[in-house]
Amino acid sequence: MREDRDLILILDFGSQYTQLIARRIRDIGIYSLVLPYDTPISEIRSLSPKGIILSGGPNSVNFKKTLKPDKNIFKEAIPVLGICYGMQLIAKEFEGSVKKSLKKEFGHSNFTLNNKSILFKNCEIGEHKVWMSHSDKVEKVPKQFLSLGYSDNSKIAAIQHKKYNIYGLQFHPEVTHTSIGKRVLSNFIDICKCKKSWTPYNICKKMIQEVKDKVGDNKVILALSGGVDSSVVAAILSKSIGKQLTCIFIDTGLLRKNEVKEVENIAKSLKINLKIIDSSRKFFLALRGITDPEKKRKIIGKCFIDVFEQQAKKIKGAKYLGQGTIYPDIIESSSRHAKSDVIKSHHNVGGLPSKMNLHLVEPIRELFKDEVRKIGKQLGLPDKLINRHPFPGPGLAVRILGEINHAKVKILQNVDHIFIEELHSNNLYNKLDQALSVLIPSKSVGVMGDKRQYGYVVSIRAVNTTDFMTASVSSIPHKILNSISTRIINEVDGVARVVYDITSKPPGTIEWE
Ligand code: XMP
Repeated sequence: MREDRDLILILDFGSQYTQLIARRIRDIGIYSLVLPYDTPISEIRSLSPKGIILSGGPNSVNFKKTLKPDKNIFKEAIPVLGICYGMQLIAKEFEGSVKKSLKKEFGHSNFTLNNKSILFKNCEIGEHKVWMSHSDKVEKVPKQFLSLGYSDNSKIAAIQHKKYNIYGLQFHPEVTHTSIGKRVLSNFIDICKCKKSWTPYNICKKMIQEVKDKVGDNKVILALSGGVDSSVVAAILSKSIGKQLTCIFIDTGLLRKNEVKEVENIAKSLKINLKIIDSSRKFFLALRGITDPEKKRKIIGKCFIDVFEQQAKKIKGAKYLGQGTIYPDIIESSSRHAKSDVIKSHHNVGGLPSKMNLHLVEPIRELFKDEVRKIGKQLGLPDKLINRHPFPGPGLAVRILGEINHAKVKILQNVDHIFIEELHSNNLYNKLDQALSVLIPSKSVGVMGDKRQYGYVVSIRAVNTTDFMTASVSSIPHKILNSISTRIINEVDGVARVVYDITSKPPGTIEWE
């Protein structure tokens, strides 16, 4: 599995940027894996990495119980790059000293390169803009190391071993604000003598072959949701095993306008076997009288599983269940990783039950979200689908405050459709990370023609975010907001007022429920 691609291994000490390091390395065309900080050397050796990166982290190397990698990594003749906490670990390991800094350095800073090094090949001697996030700093250059530069608040901000390929950076090369970040990471990759083989074409080829090898002649079932991940999984499975795949699409009645038709069209173009199950009656009945968001989520999750199980049973002889698990899910659910300070709340429709007795096939489990999109493109999925914003499993049920009914869902579908259509036609959709509409079940007065009338209030919301754990409100020009509002009021019966939600996350969440 590994022999045909060079690997950079990242040991995770809990930095909020660890996954970003992996993404940057992969962007350069090299496969990278994130493993727990204390991965034993035997496991590391079995992977034959070409280089090891020690991530940053919220700890201090001066803590009594500090997080340390297996010491042997420094004896393996594998290049090592320590970033932030990783550099401080190197300093400590090689008898330098690390002290708590009186002045912390968070955010933009300047790094002055004052020594030549292959790690800084093609970077000019002098000042560069960098991103810092530390309170400890290296005070004394470790034995047999050279200092390569300093920053506003640390007199030793980059180091290199005189004899071995061991390097340390106080700043974060993985953050785009570091002007020389990509260059430095590319130089490290050159030092590791990596061949660039992590390309969409190679990834697809390998995934398709792996599915063929795993599944053989057996049948696979997949719950298609219309989102990017499950669509890419469907495309890979279909290319690998063709008609042995059956996709099940459950129409909960809580989907976006035209969604069923769109999914049907995509399945047709990819020649995928698709069963559309209209279960909206079941979902609406179960949700009758329910106003509590968490209860709504639980009910929808349960109904979904019931319907799916029932349908899956009808596919005789199915052995595998396809799932759109992606790499961040794997990293985040591994208890061996150092915990970063941000606690992420997990949202899910419920997970499909193990009692179904199906084995899992998870073709995109090695990929980050942006890679899933690239693979989708490689597989010929339409851009509109690939760039689709996330849509929650419980659908419009968590975008209608309080009780759900058909009339409210229809109103919200129409509102949402106009909003999204306008974002597309104004070339804004792809610049936003998530746009949504919410129905607030209070009535407000409006004037239509000469008539006074009551209608619902709807809120439109658009955010920009990198990880959906924090988000800022997108600035849509007022002129466009005005025309969206006019269209909604004119075209959707039952709406009297449109508001734009200007709450960032935190304190607000992205969804209203
Ligand atoms: P919040 O509202 O927590 O949302 O800021 C963060 C991201 O998660 C999505 N979300 C969900 N996705 N089931 C899902 O599959 C859910 O119950 C759910 N709740 C929120 C939300 O759309 C946003 O992308």
